[in-house]
Amino acid sequence: MSLYRAKLSSFGSHAPAKIVNNFDLEKIVDTTDEWIRTRTGMFERHHCSETEAASDLAYQAALNAIQASQVRFKEIDLIIAATVTGDHAFPSTACIVQHKLGLNHVPAFDISAGCTGFVYALDMAKQYVENGTKNHVLVIGVDVLSKITNWEDRNTCVLFGDGAGATIVSRAESSDISHIMDTLIDADGSMGDLLIQAAGGSRQPASHETVDQNLHTVYMEGNKIFKSAIRSMYASTMELLKRNKMTAEDVDWVIPHQANLRIIEGLASKLKVPMSKVIVNIEKYGNTSSATIPLAADEAIRNNKIRRGDILMLTSFGAGLTWGSVLLRY
Ligand code: ACO
Repeated sequence: MSLYRAKLSSFGSHAPAKIVNNFDLEKIVDTTDEWIRTRTGMFERHHCSETEAASDLAYQAALNAIQASQVRFKEIDLIIAATVTGDHAFPSTACIVQHKLGLNHVPAFDISAGCTGFVYALDMAKQYVENGTKNHVLVIGVDVLSKITNWEDRNTCVLFGDGAGATIVSRAESSDISHIMDTLIDADGSMGDLLIQAAGGSRQPASHETVDQNLHTVYMEGNKIFKSAIRSMYASTMELLKRNKMTAEDVDWVIPHQANLRIIEGLASKLKVPMSKVIVNIEKYGNTSSATIPLAADEAIRNNKIRRGDILMLTSFGAGLTWGSVLLRY
């Protein structure tokens, strides 16, 4: 039994200044603006400079989320960063952000769930708040996939961008209409090899050979994942609706992971939700992995699309394979 309810206090996001569009990519690999637009819905994406890393983006997004909320710095009592491209294998990116924010002595840790990381982190933060252990959990989704991109592989190098998004999961007052209604996370490790950064861990530590073979970059069999992306996001969304005696019509906004516009349209069609109720910004950011959902949510809130009291369904899918959804009243 939960003692309290958890709500999202605010969102914040940040993307690096450098923008790379499809025409820039035409100069790097054998691709065309037309292929990328029609097969993915992407036009441009943001890339970090040589000196920028995940914690720089995460810090800025966190700052924006805190400033957009009523929460004071010293009230934050836990930091969770979802990332697969942290500054280092260790220390965690959450610890680096903690120090940059001047919140020393607040516990901080990273979680790894590929593009579903932000949804996994929300699921976790909700439980800390609901059981009364924490009051204000800073949750960050950040990824810098441009740094682990194989620039000779046209199948993947056109897809990814860098970015960060953050939210604060806070204890809801009894008068609050805002609250996280339900979450669902799932995984199937049997398909992990379809989307993998093979080297750099304990299975294949970094060596001259692993670098020569590009094994520190993203390997993805995108067409094998495509259908399961739609299927699993649909299944987790429908399960949450069913558990809460709701239908897709009750949802004001679906905020899906931005991996491919065709996946998003396929999901909307299965859910029978018009695209006018789906938040899409893939054309500007590409796939920023665990940052796509908070980036899209923050933009839609700042554009006055999403308002307080709206029912949101967040849903994602990624490496692991992992997937999950969050149903909430903002
Ligand atoms: N430019 C031109 N041609 C290309 C490019 C490119 N950038 N990339 C691939 N092609 C070619 C292929 O070589 C292939 O050519 P062939 O028929 O001569 O062999 C053809 O296009 C079709 O290739 P497919 O891989 O079948 O293309 P598809 O339509 O499936 O699109 C894509 C590929 C965009 C990767 C898609 O499959 C997809 O989005 N998959 C899901 C990705 C996903 O959701 N991942 C999980 C989240 S990401 C994460 O966790 C980090």
